[in-house]
Amino acid sequence: GLPDRITVYEVGARDGLQNEKTVVPVEVKAEFLDRLADAGLATLEATSFVHPKWVPQLADAADLLERLDRRDGIDYPVLVPNERGLDRALDAGVRHIAIFASATETFARKNLNRTLDEQFTMFAPVVKRARGEGLRVRAYVSMAFGDPWEGAVPPAQVAAVGKRLVEMGCWQLSLGDTVGTGTPGHAEAVIDACVAAGIGTDALAVHFHDTYGQALANTLAALRCGVTTVDASAGGLGGCPYAASATGNLATEDLVWMLDGLGIAHGADLEALVATSAWMAGKLGRPSPSRVVRALNG
Ligand code: HMG
Ligand code: MG
Repeated sequence: GLPDRITVYEVGARDGLQNEKTVVPVEVKAEFLDRLADAGLATLEATSFVHPKWVPQLADAADLLERLDRRDGIDYPVLVPNERGLDRALDAGVRHIAIFASATETFARKNLNRTLDEQFTMFAPVVKRARGEGLRVRAYVSMAFGDPWEGAVPPAQVAAVGKRLVEMGCWQLSLGDTVGTGTPGHAEAVIDACVAAGIGTDALAVHFHDTYGQALANTLAALRCGVTTVDASAGGLGGCPYAASATGNLATEDLVWMLDGLGIAHGADLEALVATSAWMAGKLGRPSPSRVVRALNG
């Protein structure tokens, strides 16, 4: 069966903008987030408190949160890799953070400058302190499907990494198909492996990149498995600067179009989303890769 309602976890301002060659001005980012909130999205991943040299596009994280009129009823999670990042996020008054682990050894080194095991040593004090401050902690598992250096990643390996993060105190795991090679049967296998490891589908989210055109099909497979939180980025913005072959996330508009067809509630206003993505495409100087944005804005 399919759920009646899902939560759209919007990552455009973070996953989208972190991979833009140009640095988007902070006031444009703030307006983008305001427009996404106006469009009915209630979870807006806003930015990252990572090392500014690693992701210069989001070096303005503190400035952005300072300017942003954070609204009641809207959650503005941010990425935090380590204690230094947590300090900065706490200073900015953040209530919800996301750590980001790797399912593979190679990507742990490339993205976090840590071994697979060392990443847990880095995250453990972050989760402990954050929970102590009453923050919610989401955990991404990147390279949960294919890895450009290691190939297909065994689902049991993904589940083992995920279980350690849940045991650490993370309330939600987002399964990241960072490079977009996953297909629907693979999505089912990864979710099944997580469930077999004792992680309920209520604690899972899916995070698909559309590099190979599979993001929407994979999402439908995940919904059929009982997942009810879906990551997406307005206009299909996105990628990962430390995984060269990764392109944009599942476009929020493409997701919403499918959900409307299936009669699944989501709370978003498609017209307002399309207008926002068309506006952002103008700021970035290139058309949105979202099929729905192109179709409705033609
Ligand atoms: P490192 O160089 O090993 O850091 O980087 P370190 O712990 O050795 O510290 C070195 C210096 O950096 C120190 O300064 C720290 O204070 C400073 P010094 O004492 O030498 O003057 N520093 C920081 N400064 C500001 N903010 C911080 C911070 N941390 C250290 N947070 C680190 C380790 C994890 C920081 C680095 O590897 C990093 O920032 N990586 C982030 C990479 C990234 O953001 N990737 C993209 C996000 S993941 C993604 O997109 C995938 C996802 O979408 C899901 C999917 O698609 O799969 C989530
Ligand atoms: Mg991503």
